[in-house]
Amino acid sequence: MWADRRLLDLFDVDHPIVQAPMAGATNPELVATVCEQGALGSFGAASTAPEKLREIILQIRERTERPFNINLFSAHTEEFDRSARPGQALQATLESFHDEFGLDAVPEPAPMFGPAEEQLDVLIEASVPVISFHFGVTAETVVRAKQNGARVLCSATTVAEAGLLEQAGVDAIIAQGAEAGGHRGTFDGPWTQALIGSMALVPQIVDAVRVPVIAAGGIMDGRGLVASLALGAAGVQIGTAFLACAEAPVASAWRQRLFDAGADQTRVTEALSGKPARGIVNRYVSTVEELGEPLLPYPAQYSLSRRLRKRAAEQEDADFMALWAGQGVGLAKSPAESPNSTIGAAEFVQQLITEAQALSRSLTDNA
Ligand SMILES: Cc1cc2nc3c(=O)[nH]c(=O)nc-3n(C[C@H](O)[C@H](O)[C@H](O)COP(=O)(O)O)c2cc1C
Repeated sequence: MWADRRLLDLFDVDHPIVQAPMAGATNPELVATVCEQGALGSFGAASTAPEKLREIILQIRERTERPFNINLFSAHTEEFDRSARPGQALQATLESFHDEFGLDAVPEPAPMFGPAEEQLDVLIEASVPVISFHFGVTAETVVRAKQNGARVLCSATTVAEAGLLEQAGVDAIIAQGAEAGGHRGTFDGPWTQALIGSMALVPQIVDAVRVPVIAAGGIMDGRGLVASLALGAAGVQIGTAFLACAEAPVASAWRQRLFDAGADQTRVTEALSGKPARGIVNRYVSTVEELGEPLLPYPAQYSLSRRLRKRAAEQEDADFMALWAGQGVGLAKSPAESPNSTIGAAEFVQQLITEAQALSRSLTDNA
C-alpha cells in the first residue's frame, strides 16, 4: 500500500502516520484507538508523574497489543529558579484574573514537569516500544533509552538540529515546521530563527540526514500526508487534527475553538509557558503579551496560571486555557452531517488513508 516502508519497518506499523504526543491532551483511549488502526499512537507524558506513567502504560497495553510511543519533553528535568517572581504588572494582572474567577492568591511559581530522569526509567523498565523527545536529546540518553529495544525519535526545527540528532543516534527525526501546534521543539539557537515552514524545512532536513524524517506541522488531511511524502518525508506526525477527535481529553470549549478558529488566529507565544508554543490567541495570551514585561523562565511562567487554567477548564472558559493548536486549525474535521460534533480517531485515520490513496492515484493518472 505504501511505497516507502521505512517507518512501517521501524515501528512495526501499517501506515506512516504518527498521532502526535500532546502532554495533557492525550490518553490511553486515543493512543490505543490510533494503534489499532495500524498507525502509531503517542502519549505525551511530560506532565505525568512517574507512578501515574506506569499506570498509563498498563492502560494502553490493556487496550492494544500494537506498538505505541511515549514522549517526554526532555530526558532532563528543567532547572527551576525558585527565586523567580512575576513583575508588578503581571502580578497585578494575574490577581485581577483570579478575582474574576473567585480564586484566592496567585500561586507561587512551582515545578510542573518530570522528574524526567525517573520518567525515562519507567519507560525503559516497561520496554516501551517507541520513546520520543521534544527539546533535544544527547547520545548518552539515546543509548540509555534504547537499552530495552525502544526506537528513539526527537523533533528538530532546523537543519542544524536535525544534524545534531542524527549524530546523537536517533532512529528518526520529526521535522517540526513553524505551522505546528504546541511547544516548539527548538533546542539549539534562537527560536525566532527556527520558525521555518514545513514546505521549506522537510526537504532540507531530508537532504541533510540519512535517518527517516517525519513531517510535522499543518498536516490535517490526506493532502498534507501526500505532500509530506512528496517532500521526501517517510511519514507524518499529526497533532491538531487528532486534538479535534472525540477521544482527545480536551475541554469542550477548547474543541469548539478548534472548529471556530481560522489559520490566522494562532500565534507562537511565550506568554503562557515561558517557552515558545503555538496556540489560538485568547484573552490571557493577548493581555500578558501586551504587558510587555519580561516573562519568567519556563516552566515557572506556566505554573503561574495553573489555578486559572484549571478553573477555566472546569467552567469551559476558553479565554483562560492553553489553547494549543497549529495553523492547520481551519481544517479541523467535524462530520459534515452534524457540524461541530466530533469525529472518532479511528474514522479520522481511515479518512487520511483513503484520501491519500485517492490523491496519489489521481496525481499519477493525470501525469
Ligand atoms: C495540544 C498540543 C500539545 C502538544 N504537546 C506535545 C508534547 O507533549 N510533546 C511533543 O513532542 N510535541 C507536542 N506537541 C507538538 C506535536 O508533537 C507536533 O509537533 C505538532 O502537533 C504538529 O503540528 P500540527 O499540530 O499542526 O499537527 C503538541 C501539539 C499540540 C497541538
